[in-house]
Amino acid sequence: MEKDLKYKRGIFQVASDFEKTLNFEEIFNNNNPVHLEIGSGRGEFLLEKSISLPEVNFLGIDSKEKRIKTILRKLDIEKNKNVRVMKLLVDDDIEKFIPENSLEEIYIIYPDPWSKRKHHKNRLIQDRFIEALSKVLKFNGKVKLASDHKEYAMWIVRHFQNQTDFETIFEGGFTYIPPRDHLRTYFEVKKSKEGYNPFFMYFKKK
Ligand SMILES: C[S@@+](CC[C@H](N)C(=O)[O-])C[C@H]1O[C@@H](n2cnc3c(N)ncnc32)[C@H](O)[C@@H]1O
Repeated sequence: MEKDLKYKRGIFQVASDFEKTLNFEEIFNNNNPVHLEIGSGRGEFLLEKSISLPEVNFLGIDSKEKRIKTILRKLDIEKNKNVRVMKLLVDDDIEKFIPENSLEEIYIIYPDPWSKRKHHKNRLIQDRFIEALSKVLKFNGKVKLASDHKEYAMWIVRHFQNQTDFETIFEGGFTYIPPRDHLRTYFEVKKSKEGYNPFFMYFKKK
């Protein structure tokens, strides 16, 4: 089992080395568009999207080693050739290792809401972070977010609307109707059963 994991790390895992910017052509062995998922959790999104969109490369990042191991165990050498994972706590430094104007889409599905006011500073979505996302996205590139935390969802909408680089895709900044390309994760199913309704927020770089 551990031997299998080591083998999969060699194929799918990208080292988090900030000394140099990632070279996507080298990492994926092709020039296909790259979609980034921040906070991949149990990996359902990466596993399914990589099969339904074989002409797209998917980079999934999660800060927890446990999550990375879970994803690596599920990845199939044949079916998920277009997936790479990184273990990393993403922050504004994203612009140091992701090339400028390189990403077509960025997914942030259920980012941790850090509910208490004194913890809001830990939220991933901040003005400076949105500026960094704008740098790494291509023109017309999209950031796609979902949150079941109403206050954080409104925070996200407000912070994106404060930026001149982005325009909202959904009128008013969000929709309750799951977009066609949305994929329900384990986390979403669990929270829905507890009575939480997700907000979907898509923003396009102008
Ligand atoms: C609430 S879970 C959602 C997971 C998944 N997107 C889903 O919908 O099932 C949040 C995930 O994001 C990861 N995470 C939180 N902050 C992160 C950060 N700054 N950088 C990378 N991963 C992060 C956590 O380890 C966790 O796996």
